[in-house]
Amino acid sequence: MTEVFDAGFAADPWPTLARLRAEGGVHRIRTPDGPSAWLVTRYRDVRAGLLDDRLSTNVRRAGTDDYRGFTVPPSLLAFLLTEPADHARLRGIVTGELSPRRLAEWTRLAPTLVDSLLRELDSGTEVDLVEQLAVPLPAAVLGELLGLGEAERERLLDWANSTLLPAATPPRARDTLDTMRAIITATTEQARAVRADTLLGRLVAAHDDTGSPTADELAGLLFYLLFVWYEVLVDLIAGSVLTLLGRPDQLHILRTATEKHSAVDELLRYLSPQVLAGPRFAITDLTIGGHTIRAGQTVLLCLASANRDPETFDRPDELDLRRAPHAQLDLGYGPHSCLGNALVRTLAGTALDYLFTRWPGTTLTVDARDIAWRSGFRHRGPFTLPVELG
Ligand code: HEM
Repeated sequence: MTEVFDAGFAADPWPTLARLRAEGGVHRIRTPDGPSAWLVTRYRDVRAGLLDDRLSTNVRRAGTDDYRGFTVPPSLLAFLLTEPADHARLRGIVTGELSPRRLAEWTRLAPTLVDSLLRELDSGTEVDLVEQLAVPLPAAVLGELLGLGEAERERLLDWANSTLLPAATPPRARDTLDTMRAIITATTEQARAVRADTLLGRLVAAHDDTGSPTADELAGLLFYLLFVWYEVLVDLIAGSVLTLLGRPDQLHILRTATEKHSAVDELLRYLSPQVLAGPRFAITDLTIGGHTIRAGQTVLLCLASANRDPETFDRPDELDLRRAPHAQLDLGYGPHSCLGNALVRTLAGTALDYLFTRWPGTTLTVDARDIAWRSGFRHRGPFTLPVELG
């Protein structure tokens, strides 16, 4: 049994992952939560795993004491508890809503959203950009995307502040869950009352008119859209700012690029804020990298490790925002790939560009090596980002 996720892993997972790739690529590991799982680390195995229909995301297929993923009630997991046909139907509902064309309209708002968050701050001020930018930005963006009312945006931001910022007393899991449920109910009721032509308004209308999505599926979709991807968006923004502060040459490339998507893709590859894909459960015995995985066991596909595999990427440990477009895996791949990918690329590119155009002389006020990184198991990002804006 291999122990992988030790205290230093979040800040610097790369030596461990390189060793695991070199030592066979597939390992039986203990997760930080306790239970075991198979960890797959080589690019070709991870990519094949994301496409393999013998690996299900449905936790009902789990058949051993292995790691099972989110410990939240099934009513919030409708999106993940589906078998392929229902999953495709649910994806279909969201795909159109998150299409690049639809998103283009409001992602132009990104500079305005960044500006409204940072407007109060003056040059020369010391701020924590995790607290002032990375955490509130997704709430503002999701508020626009879903069409949330003021009160619901405030509640979402309160949830994010209480769960993502360092706190003397971290909230208990049950309190967090109750808050998430309350936000889902309030946002749904508000959308129903207003009957607005927004993403959420259309989802609620589709439920009311056709029964698809069902009530549980609607709650599951909102759980996914509001909460599941919130933290990794924070991690991407904060990790990118931290990295670019130490790499003026790369920042220059980002700022002068007319199209920022490939630069963001390289930041996603290099930082891999989403360390693992969601757990997969083998529905039959199968072999990966020469290891037999038994039906019911859990497989963790390590996106971060795949993204630094030297068999796929030349100079994998180097950040090079001029790299030719590549198939990094941090937004997943195949039937479960990220539906927010256009949003993520546009938002991160615009937000970073805007931040450093307005404050080109921004500097860290501490040594980058002293910054603590959160989690490291499912995702990774800096906890704080103390800077002087300039
Ligand atoms: C930096 C930010 C993000 C990263 C790195 C990311 C990454 C991923 C990854 C790796 C998957 C595939 C999971 C798997 O195969 O188990 C995924 C799926 C998904 N993402 Fe994202 N995501 C991000 C932001 C977002 C945002 C902002 C949204 C929407 C508002 C979103 C919506 C989704 C949805 C709906 C799926 C589920 C697709 C499915 O299971 O069919 N993501 N994302």
